[in-house]
Amino acid sequence: MESLEKHYSACDIEARILAAVRAAGLIPEQHLSPEALGALDHFHTGGLRASRELLELAKIPPDARVLDIGAGLAGPARLLASVLGCHVDCIEMSPDFCAGAVLLNRLTGLDERIKIHKCSALDLPFPDDSFDVVWMQNVGMNIADKQTLYGEIYRVLKPGGLYAFQEMAAGETLTSYFPLPWATDPADSFLISSEEIRLLLGSNGFIAELFEDTSDAHLSMTPADMGPSPLTLGVYVDNLAQKAGNARRSLQEGQIRLVRGVFRVE
Ligand SMILES: C[S@@+](CC[C@H](N)C(=O)[O-])C[C@H]1O[C@@H](n2cnc3c(N)ncnc32)[C@H](O)[C@@H]1O
Repeated sequence: MESLEKHYSACDIEARILAAVRAAGLIPEQHLSPEALGALDHFHTGGLRASRELLELAKIPPDARVLDIGAGLAGPARLLASVLGCHVDCIEMSPDFCAGAVLLNRLTGLDERIKIHKCSALDLPFPDDSFDVVWMQNVGMNIADKQTLYGEIYRVLKPGGLYAFQEMAAGETLTSYFPLPWATDPADSFLISSEEIRLLLGSNGFIAELFEDTSDAHLSMTPADMGPSPLTLGVYVDNLAQKAGNARRSLQEGQIRLVRGVFRVE
């Protein structure tokens, strides 16, 4: 394969991803393993480890058709497609993340199994009963209209389908440390409590198979020692250290909680 920079140098996020991949000693012209990119493309609390744990808890069959909502660079979708061999549709609102996801699908040889759609979670371009599983990690805090969000997830899931997610939830006191990874200021942050998440899902026809608060478990874990690797979220997140520090402090002080769940539709 000829050098990829020729095609991507005009596109900022793609050029930055390629530069980081090369700086990490990986060769983008040869197929990369999705797990080798984990520190770059799992854009949520707990990173690749949290995605692996949710995958194990959700018990997704290999022939499942999966939708990943707010997929970012589609790191979780590549984990699912590579481990299970399933097909994943990703929806993502940001054109930059869509472009980065398409590039990384290609570099990992998973572009046949993962499709990227640029659209909103509030207006999913799929017929009713399309998916066996809807997957969503760290997206709800950006979405004010959770009633429409959960209504859309319910609509596209087949009867008996699964909704597997990880979310930030509101804690006992208001968030006061900004910027956070998902919000520059309070006007961008739409957190509801874990009880409100459970009630809203229940009233939209979802039944809990698993719903747990993992804040303390997350805080008790020593952050993974990434060393000085060029593969970090900092490739596309400004002020990463400050935002991650504020998120950790908010969790420690109970201003936010980390929850995950696996719910089934009736
Ligand atoms: C913190 S990132 C998580 C990315 C990915 N789920 C992951 O865990 O690697 C949140 C993502 O949700 C996307 N997003 C936020 N609101 C959205 C909406 N209404 N529709 C589609 N995507 C949305 C953002 O553009 C961003 O890529």
